[in-house]
Amino acid sequence: MPKSSPQIDIRSARELFPATKHAAYFNTAAVGLASRAVTDAYHAYVDEWSRDGLDYARAELAAESARAMVGGLIGADRSDVALIASVSAAAGFVAAQFGPATPGQNVVIGQREYSSNHFPWRMLAAKGYDVRQVPFRSGGLEPTDIAACVDGGTQLVAFSGVQTATGHRSDIAAISGIARAVGAIVFVDGAQLVGALPVAQDLAGIDVLAVPDHKFLLNAGRGIGYCYLSAGMQAQFTPVNAGWKAGAVPFESFFGPEMNLSQTASRFDTTISWLAAIGQQAALGVFENFGADAIYERNRELAGLLRASLVEVGWNAVDLPEANRSTIVSVPLGEANPADLLAALKHHAIICSARDGNLRLAVHFYNHEDDIQQLAEILRSHRP
Ligand SMILES: Cc1ncc(COP(=O)(O)O)c(C=O)c1O
Repeated sequence: MPKSSPQIDIRSARELFPATKHAAYFNTAAVGLASRAVTDAYHAYVDEWSRDGLDYARAELAAESARAMVGGLIGADRSDVALIASVSAAAGFVAAQFGPATPGQNVVIGQREYSSNHFPWRMLAAKGYDVRQVPFRSGGLEPTDIAACVDGGTQLVAFSGVQTATGHRSDIAAISGIARAVGAIVFVDGAQLVGALPVAQDLAGIDVLAVPDHKFLLNAGRGIGYCYLSAGMQAQFTPVNAGWKAGAVPFESFFGPEMNLSQTASRFDTTISWLAAIGQQAALGVFENFGADAIYERNRELAGLLRASLVEVGWNAVDLPEANRSTIVSVPLGEANPADLLAALKHHAIICSARDGNLRLAVHFYNHEDDIQQLAEILRSHRP
């Protein structure tokens, strides 16, 4: 992924996303918008499929290009990225590596983590692990609270890079330091982080980073996802889901009889959605068009403006130190009915979600100052 300065002004990005013409879209934390490039790629591929049959070899190439681009975004070599479509599948795959616990063995997770990064670890209780759930403070995990739960028996610490309901950005370096000090695996759910904010600076502290395609990576139809695995994890893990796609040469691995698995992280690949691969390759083009750094910078600018505008109209967002802020700004709703508020906002073409008692507002580079102004005007008359 080139880090060069963007060739096109980031402020013109919204022109590529037709939905921004008629909606103020604050819902990328649920699903990203489609660029024209994505819909054009899908239309062309489906038309060709209808006319000539499906060109799955091209889709496999698109997936390879997506793997490399996402590797670039997170600061990893493509050879360290497996294609695993969902966070839950990645967490389940890692959890499947764990044998029966010996006395004192435990895993440490957040109490209000998104279920995909929660349920797979909870299953480990059946194998004898003590599943320690760390309570959230200010909508996220404080390293000191994690430290209080970690001991010599801790095998894994799992958490979100950015909490989905509150936007609390985890201190990956600090949590990783605590986990690594006892030799625990560091598993990070990157669903609300990758594509939204820079992550490469934290990668050295991460053993497993799982990311789906449908949010800040802008392929809302879903079907392809990424799992970075450190060299140590690749050496340690068994590719329990291996099939033809895990082969050194997948198209020559349909029937064995030898099991020549890939020497790279692709031996942990699971079969992808070919349609999704075509869409994802096109979707990721924006990171090359505008430059990832320009996108992150614009996201920071928009999130700061959103936070300030909420304060101005009397809405108190979850107050987070600068270092814990992300592209999600959430406001606790108290007694207010989320459905009524969302309907009122939708009536004014403002799209967002409610999560875990909060109004959740997410920005991505295709948002504009006008979206924020429009939102603030409506919220002024709907105080929680
Ligand atoms: C923090 C977080 N993790 C994971 C996911 C998705 O999980 P999965 O890929 O298992 O559907 C979401 C939202 O869809 C999320 O907000």
